[in-house]
Amino acid sequence: MTHPSPPMSLLAELTYLCPLRCPYCSNPTQLTKRNEELSTDQWKDILTQAADLGILQVHFSGGEPTIRSDLVELVKIAAHLNLYTNLITSGLLLTPDLLEKLAENGLDHIQLSFQDTLPEAADLLSGMRAVQPRKLQAAEDIKKAGFPLTLNFVVHRGNIERIEDMLALGYALGARRVEIAHIQYHGWALINRPALLPSLEQVQKAEALIAHMHKFYKNRMVIDHVTPDYYTDIPKPCMGGWGQRFLNVTPRGNVLPCHAAESIPNITVPSIKHASLAEIWNHSSLFSLFRGTEWMKEPCQSCDRKTIDWGGCRCQALALTGDAAHTDPVCHLSPHHERILAITQKEGQQAHSPSAQSFTYRTASFNSQS
Ligand code: SF4
Ligand code: FES
Repeated sequence: MTHPSPPMSLLAELTYLCPLRCPYCSNPTQLTKRNEELSTDQWKDILTQAADLGILQVHFSGGEPTIRSDLVELVKIAAHLNLYTNLITSGLLLTPDLLEKLAENGLDHIQLSFQDTLPEAADLLSGMRAVQPRKLQAAEDIKKAGFPLTLNFVVHRGNIERIEDMLALGYALGARRVEIAHIQYHGWALINRPALLPSLEQVQKAEALIAHMHKFYKNRMVIDHVTPDYYTDIPKPCMGGWGQRFLNVTPRGNVLPCHAAESIPNITVPSIKHASLAEIWNHSSLFSLFRGTEWMKEPCQSCDRKTIDWGGCRCQALALTGDAAHTDPVCHLSPHHERILAITQKEGQQAHSPSAQSFTYRTASFNSQS
């Protein structure tokens, strides 16, 4: 029997706990309770299995992964297994002492998220007060500890006009890379889309600016720009193709081809508690469901882009058409493409800046925590 090629990256969602409450969070809207999270030994075993499977990179994420007191231990194991290690963090709980321990134990890279360049706008989006000075301090401490730094800005209607300032801030803080990432509308972000979606005019202006900024920062800082799905008509190869490059382990041990896959109804979600990572990657029904091209219907099946974008995003197809097996409606060939146009015309034209009242903030209480 032939097996699929091994995955390249593991997203290790250590916890869904987070001090912030961003309305664009891509975590599921039903969050795992603290007492359901995997133990340190379970995560160590997952990292060992990941290396055995051929995975090259592990991204420690959440929620906020620095909440886990075993983070340093897990980084140490991953580094020992020769995995490239990246920490995706809001920075609020990073201390010089923790950074020193992470450096000593082999952490390779840190990606620090920022909500905005303006302190009051950062507070509005994070649902927390006085967040910006703490993030600026975290960036300084990360650089002092010797880590390569990437800054991540999630872009929406309320901050898209400040992309030039975001890049300037990244450069001033010594970032090697700045990600300007338009929101992917899953989880909390989907609920909040009417308050977040930018207008076509805003997006076009931003794209022209970024093209100019690429030249301006050439050889000094890398700019990654994730274009907004809702304003293109050619889909992205979500996750590099379903079950082809990426797997995600959730705080309770579910193993997914993407972070939003649990939104798909009538699927059997594999768990690391009942099968190995290799069994799940090679044989589970979930990873096989949309792998390759056999599952595709028209127009994808006869399209010459089908092994380039793999039909786009399954979770977006589900959210916007009700069926994850449909062509991503972002595609101009999709029979549902007019839904995207209707959304951008209705939600993208609201001129006002978002306010706290316009958001449903990610819950901080997690239904029940223990
Ligand atoms: Fe991609 Fe399918 Fe659209 Fe072709 S028809 S561009 S494969 S989403
Ligand atoms: Fe699930 Fe795109 S987020 S396939």
